[in-house]
Amino acid sequence: MLLHIAEVLDAARLAETRALLARAPWVDGRVTAGHQSAQVKDNLQIPEASAEHRALGEIVLAALERNPLFISSVLPLRVFPPLFNRYDPGMTFGAHVDNAIRQITGTPHRIRTDVSCTLFLSDPAGYEGGELIVEDTYGEKRVKLPAGDAVVYPATSLHRVAPVTSGSRLASFFWIQSMVRDDGQRALLFDLDMAINRARGDLPAGHSAPTELTAVYHNLLRRWADA
Ligand code: NI
Repeated sequence: MLLHIAEVLDAARLAETRALLARAPWVDGRVTAGHQSAQVKDNLQIPEASAEHRALGEIVLAALERNPLFISSVLPLRVFPPLFNRYDPGMTFGAHVDNAIRQITGTPHRIRTDVSCTLFLSDPAGYEGGELIVEDTYGEKRVKLPAGDAVVYPATSLHRVAPVTSGSRLASFFWIQSMVRDDGQRALLFDLDMAINRARGDLPAGHSAPTELTAVYHNLLRRWADA
């Protein structure tokens, strides 16, 4: 399931984020790439040891924790500390699959990457190219979102970033280990959760169906989740 999550960052958070991005140091993005992806990756990243990296990551994580659509669609168990990248003209990231297991830098902790997330931070009118292109079951999806919006998609997907031909594309990207490892099960739970919310709004007060369906939701989650 590929899902667009609008307005993860509001205007105030976005302004704060841009101020930090403007003064952050940038290094070659290959520092966090695996062996295969290092050969096709050409962009810039903020070093994980920098103060700006930490401050930016806290803004993103706090915003995600408050986002019901993110929580419902991803069912996060562990979130990799967000990374930040920039593509200037000529930069690109060729087709690759993200590493399945990632060590959280500077810690003994590892996460399994079930879901990939890209949070767009540049106004799409300010750069040409730079679409995130994800191959899923039904073909290619080209994703280029307003600043502050995010996309989540299964980390099993082959994906790439089209070359930027003018302007700069800044984004945050990171991975999530979900409580529900299987993308199909996660998508079913998400659909059920959304349907329950609609039923709760549309059915007369006191109707038993939302409560019964909520019981089904939690009993499926109990079968499928690791916590
Ligand atoms: Ni990737």
